[in-house]
Amino acid sequence: MKATKQQPIGIFDSGIGGTSIWKEIHTLLPLEQTIYLSDSKNAPYGHKSKETILDLSIKNTEFLLGRQCKIIVIACNTATTNAISYLRKNYGVPFIGIEPAIKPASIQTKSNKIGILATKGTLNSSLFEQTSSKINQEVEIIEQIGEGLVELIENGKIDSNEMDTLLNQYLQPMITQNIDCLVLGCTHYPYLIPKIQKITGNSIKIIDSGEAVAKQTKNILAQENLLSTSKSKTRNTFYINKEGTTLKNILRKHMDVIITEKNF
Ligand code: DGL
Repeated sequence: MKATKQQPIGIFDSGIGGTSIWKEIHTLLPLEQTIYLSDSKNAPYGHKSKETILDLSIKNTEFLLGRQCKIIVIACNTATTNAISYLRKNYGVPFIGIEPAIKPASIQTKSNKIGILATKGTLNSSLFEQTSSKINQEVEIIEQIGEGLVELIENGKIDSNEMDTLLNQYLQPMITQNIDCLVLGCTHYPYLIPKIQKITGNSIKIIDSGEAVAKQTKNILAQENLLSTSKSKTRNTFYINKEGTTLKNILRKHMDVIITEKNF
């Protein structure tokens, strides 16, 4: 059955990081209803096998399709790079994914050195390898796995000494190697931008793909004639399969959200 304009946009992530994408989508498309799935019980995905990431992505997709979503936004680099081609082949709705923005970074760099901070699952994926092989070969990509960062964010420890120690450990070698662009290849990391900037200073540009994902979502909905025309207040429902305090804190400025803790 063809989807209709008033059906919700479905968004999923391994946890609460994809809310950085939800915020961009909600700002650009305020008339849309959204359903967000935070699979925090299974976070982080970054160290899991490709098969497990695929199984979890299928489960998340079916949860959202069971709630009549007209489009699915995979607000997770790890799930996108490991599962989007399978999902596109096997489900009849449009999928929007997020991939590390190394191409824009490779165009903007002057030092020809860019850094990328992402999960192991993203950096080891064949999709990431393909994307990296297509950029200007004079640009060197310095990869760093953000081991432990997702767990700290999920546990509400953005402002902790452990976070400062890890970020210093990951960023200082890139600074020493003279990067001038830093790509955030995980949707949890935009919540670290103020901390990252304190370490990198203003000479390193931080690049993430959140806004581009929101624009792409709008373009595809317009192309499919599925943009909402609703005039009434929208509903934004968040499902989380763990205790939701960190999620509630992250969304505290948004009055138009309903957060449901549910075991799925
Ligand atoms: N937000 C996910 C991403 O963009 C986090 C991955 C994880 O759970 O390790 O990759």
